[in-house]
Formats: sequence, C-alpha cells, structure tokens
Amino acid sequence: MIIKPIKRISGAITVPADKSISHRAVMFGSIADGTTRVNNFLAADDCKRTIEAFREMGIDIKVKSQKAKGNSLEIHGKGLHGLKEPQGPIDCGNSGTTMRLLSGILAGQNFYSMLTGDESLSVRPMSRIALPLRLMGADVRGDYPPLKIRGGRLKPVDYKSPVASAQVKSCVLLAGLFADGITSVTEPLPSRDHTERMLELFGVKLKRSGLKVSIKGRQKLKARLLDVPADISSAAFFMVAASIVKNSKLTIKSVGINPTRSGILDILKKMNARIKIKNKTSTPEPMADLIVETANLKSTTIKGSFISRAIDELPVIMVAATQAKGTTKIIGAGELRVKETDRIKSMSEGLNKMGANIKVVGDNIYIKGPSKLNGACLNSRGDHRTAMSFAIAGLVANGQATIENTECILTSFPDFKKTLSKISKL
Ligand code: S3P
Repeated sequence: MIIKPIKRISGAITVPADKSISHRAVMFGSIADGTTRVNNFLAADDCKRTIEAFREMGIDIKVKSQKAKGNSLEIHGKGLHGLKEPQGPIDCGNSGTTMRLLSGILAGQNFYSMLTGDESLSVRPMSRIALPLRLMGADVRGDYPPLKIRGGRLKPVDYKSPVASAQVKSCVLLAGLFADGITSVTEPLPSRDHTERMLELFGVKLKRSGLKVSIKGRQKLKARLLDVPADISSAAFFMVAASIVKNSKLTIKSVGINPTRSGILDILKKMNARIKIKNKTSTPEPMADLIVETANLKSTTIKGSFISRAIDELPVIMVAATQAKGTTKIIGAGELRVKETDRIKSMSEGLNKMGANIKVVGDNIYIKGPSKLNGACLNSRGDHRTAMSFAIAGLVANGQATIENTECILTSFPDFKKTLSKISKL
C-alpha cells in the first residue's frame, strides 16, 4: 500500500462493525435456542472463520449483504448441546478470538475437535486458556496451536487470571455454561465486557462484582435480535488521523463506546485532542457519533487500566504520540507482544525508521515528540493494526510511505484504503 502525505481530512464516515461483538454474536447465537438475527455484522476474514467453524458443527447460518444496511445474519441456534463433531480440523485463520472463545464452548462438548491457525496464530500462547480448561476437567492438548480438545462434563472453577484478557475471561465463562455449579473468573484489570453484556441479553444470569464475574452452569441461551455498533478499534485510526493532520474535521458515525473499550477516547483527550461525543444510544452496547478535529497534542502517561481499555488501539496511539509535544510513556504493555505480531517491536521499529524517537525498555515504551516523519518502506509483519497504524503515520510524513504485507487488513477492515481515500484531501 502506498500512502502519500495529505493536506487535510474532512467528511463523515462509517467504519466496519465491531469485530469482538460480531464473533460473539455468531457463537452465542449458535448455542442459543431459536433463531438469532444480527444487524450490521462484520463480514471480514476473522469473523468469517467463526461462521465457518459453527457451520462445520452443523449450524445453519445465513449471511445477507445489503448495500445500504450492511451485512446481516440469521443463525439457527441448536442449544447448548446441539453442535455436532466437526469432520476435520477447524481452521481459525488469523483469529485469536475464534480460537480462544470457541475452546471454551468445545470444552463442554461430548466430542473431539482440533483447532488450527495461520502462521501468526500458531505462535500465540494458548496455555492461558488451556490451563483453566484443564482445571475444569477438559482434555486440552497443546500450549500453542494446534489445540486438541476432548470435551465433556466440566467442573466449575474459581479462576484468578494472571492476565487482563477478555479472551481468557470469555473462554472460562463459556466453559462455565457447561459446568455443574458456579464458575468464576477474576482479572487483574478490567478487560472488555462484551461477553457479559451479550450473555445477559441472551437471558443468562451473571454475577458481576468488581473484577470478578460468576456464572451458574446449565443456563440456556434464548435467541435474540442484535445490533452491532461500529468498531472503536477501527475508528481509532481515523480519530488519530483527524487529530494529527492539519485543518481536519471528521465525523465517525455510530461507534461503540463501551467503557471497557473506550480508553482511546480518554487517552486522546488527556493528550489535548478535540473530540465531541454526540447522539449517544444504547443497544445494549453504548454507541455515539464522534466528531474529531485537529489538535496540538501533548504527551501523556498510559498505564494500568488505560492499557487494558485501549489494548488494540495502542499501536495507533503510538503514532499520535510521535506528533505530541513531550515524552509519552506507555508503561507495562507486555500484552502487546503476544498480539498478531509483537506490536511493541513492529511499531517502534517502523516508526523509528520514519524518524520517530521511540525507546523501548522491557515492556515500557517512551515516545518523544513531536517528530518530523519521513516516508519509508515499512513491513506490517502480517498484522492488520500495525499496517493501518503505519498508513496513518504516512499521512503526516514527508514523501511517500510504502507499506508491505497489507493483505492482513482484510481480517478487520476490508475497505480501509477506500475509507481513507474518501476523506483525504490532497
Ligand atoms: C478480544 C480481546 C483482546 C483483543 C482482541 C479481541 C476479544 O484480546 O486484543 O483483539 O474479542 O475478546 P485479549 O483478550 O487477549 O486481551
């Protein structure tokens, strides 16, 4: 992908539907009783893997694409025990969410399954979910993909997760649906709560108390009608773009602003960004229009729950920090090292190649700005968010940036380049 510097950004856009919520809609709809309908589903590669996985287990899922309305789904759920044994390995592609959440459901099934992934997913740690599932009595082989799961009757667990990870929390809660008794998960910091919200929408009772969530096993899910908001993680690229490109004003419509995901709004505001939040609604996921204008950004410190509430947005926040006055500190961002690529490494190396001043000490990142960036040849290492973050950096660089390996953008934002072109004024 070639990115040329632009003069300003202006207009209004809608970014794709939320990836996390789309995955969950397919999974929960498949194990619910009855027909679940989903409006505004993200029909990108990652979520298509989740659909295929459930189709392979006998669930009838219809995808309808309508230009004006986006994609909608009709899922004919078969209840907690309606899945059938898959004929072969389930290929999760690049999708960690598919593999980790699905494992929780498979642990409760009376059959054998094997989950595989692409090159990037195959080196991502699965011990974080295998461990609690083994404690619950499932036979889970493999601490990295492929994962082999022989499920069955599970026993409940009171699990203290060492990492703030919605994928781990969700996996354990889903397995808890198949256990006799009450399963709990406690996290060190709050992670996104889409699983909790959606399970409640499907009629499942949960107990939430601070960082602990508990679920009673054997509760049935009732089919529902769902609306998926636009993905704040995809909106993030454009929030940063409109903040750093001079003379810009951009509206991003109907963005999910769930407080466990909206760290980027708070971080950018601390950095002096000009963001207005308008037309708030709740579906039960809160959403709103975001109006972003160019600002003189200043540095900030990002740590603790700001890390977990903005985990997928940190790469593009690093881009914003290169244009902010002072030293932005991102402290304790180790989880970035186990994403689609080691994002601390890929982002700091790429941005430094463009002329940024970034130092990495262990899992802490120090970004001194503002820096004049230069166009360079950058490699995404197959990571969609790294690729799109480099594209945003390219908008304020001198000269042309070439980003290699951008196929991966299809996993979350197939129309990224088109959306960017629409609002870029040369
Ligand atoms: C996700 C949770 C996050 C996030 C990922 C999607 C989810 O991962 O990085 O892109 O849908 O639950 P962790 O739970 O590992 O932090």
